[in-house]
Amino acid sequence: MKNGTMTRRDMLVGAAAASAFAIVRPRQSVRADTVPVLRPQSSNVALLGGDEPTTPVWCYNGMVPGPELRLRQGDRLRVDVENRLGQETTVHWHGLRLPNVMDGVPGLTQPPIEPGRTFRYEFALPDAGTFWYHPHVRSSEQQGRGLYGALIVEEPDPPQVDRDVTWVIDDWRLGEDGAISDTFGHPMDLSHAGRLGNVATLNGRDSKSFAVRAGERIRLRLINTANARIFALTFEDHDPVVIALDGQPCTPHAPEGNRVILPPAGRADLILDLVGSPGKRYTVKDDYYARQTYRFLELAYRPETPLRESFDPVTPLAPNPIPEPRLKDAQRHDIVLAGGAMGGMRSAILDGKEMGLREMAGQGKMWAVNGIAAHATVMKPLFVFTRDRTQVLTMRNDTAFPHPMHLHGHSFRLMSRNGKPVAGTPWLDTVLVEPRETVEVAFVADNPGDWLLHCHVLEHMQAGMSAVVRVV
Ligand code: C2O
Ligand code: CU
Repeated sequence: MKNGTMTRRDMLVGAAAASAFAIVRPRQSVRADTVPVLRPQSSNVALLGGDEPTTPVWCYNGMVPGPELRLRQGDRLRVDVENRLGQETTVHWHGLRLPNVMDGVPGLTQPPIEPGRTFRYEFALPDAGTFWYHPHVRSSEQQGRGLYGALIVEEPDPPQVDRDVTWVIDDWRLGEDGAISDTFGHPMDLSHAGRLGNVATLNGRDSKSFAVRAGERIRLRLINTANARIFALTFEDHDPVVIALDGQPCTPHAPEGNRVILPPAGRADLILDLVGSPGKRYTVKDDYYARQTYRFLELAYRPETPLRESFDPVTPLAPNPIPEPRLKDAQRHDIVLAGGAMGGMRSAILDGKEMGLREMAGQGKMWAVNGIAAHATVMKPLFVFTRDRTQVLTMRNDTAFPHPMHLHGHSFRLMSRNGKPVAGTPWLDTVLVEPRETVEVAFVADNPGDWLLHCHVLEHMQAGMSAVVRVV
């Protein structure tokens, strides 16, 4: 699907949904007092719904998304991962500030979990917020086939809402038969925008509509689990208020242009006041890619009278206990992202050897961080950070594509874009860096260990856009 060519499946996504209401499937909740088991396995799910064919997937516990893990701030998460796939896997807990040995990066923080084996993850949850989990082995295919789930850490004193709803958003590349196209690692995806799909889903169903009641106040937790698709959602005649980004509370604000931008792996918590009229439908549109704007879903108002006529102001969430960067004595590092199609990169170092782009491409590598294409997850650290010192990373995107850059084990403040201060300097763990853009992030390197810093377009990561940073 390039340059707006629409297939039948896209039409499905874009088509007016005259059909059924609720598409949020019941989710299994797991609490801290049992040791839940996550089982990566093959299964069949009804992504398309109705009479459409089912889709063979890889997923946790037979469901897409996997079970929503819901715990409280300060709890210990304990999960056994029992690998029922025919290949190695791990689980990475995206966005969590956890001990390095629990980070789920094969080779770097743990040996991969062999088929038939079980690994126990156990760690404390210092931060409340919206997080998620996914494998870190052959990510493009494992996550792309459906291995992911939400991890919600509840605040001791959550905001008053009528419903707390998780929207796990994904896109899939499906054929006419409903099966996932097995073109994982296609050179076109590796070198361009990554693996974009042709069917968008909400909580594992072709997104069509979401039933609401007039006058409700909903907390929407959006999680983008797509390999590569960036979403920009607008809510017709509604004004969502952003209260958290990447799980971390921010000053409640209207998103710029009323568009909620979600890069791969990104999250946003919204307060959505249902100010529409009973019985009416309102479009939620995704217009990130200008030539591929489509209706993501409709808010379908039930006919009941409004629950309330006016809404209280939105109050901020309590901040998480993250150390504040001290810019005065910061260590500073420059990061240059290069490569890909139309990026102008001539060569890079791969496995210790300088190579031309063509030769690199022969080994499936297209991208580099500071001139080095990642060949594995275990590498000489790009930087060594002194523990408890503030780090400022300046990341420049010298390529023709956007890159959502993710740092493991820490959250960072987004300080500036192209030298312009960012309002509120929000905490993030994944920052979208647009082509030719420079962003500056700051954080205290308080979590010892070797951590990945990589692009969360999974095909870019696979093709070299990854590095290791060490905190000692
Ligand atoms: Cu969701 Cu290495 O990341
Ligand atoms: Cu990228």
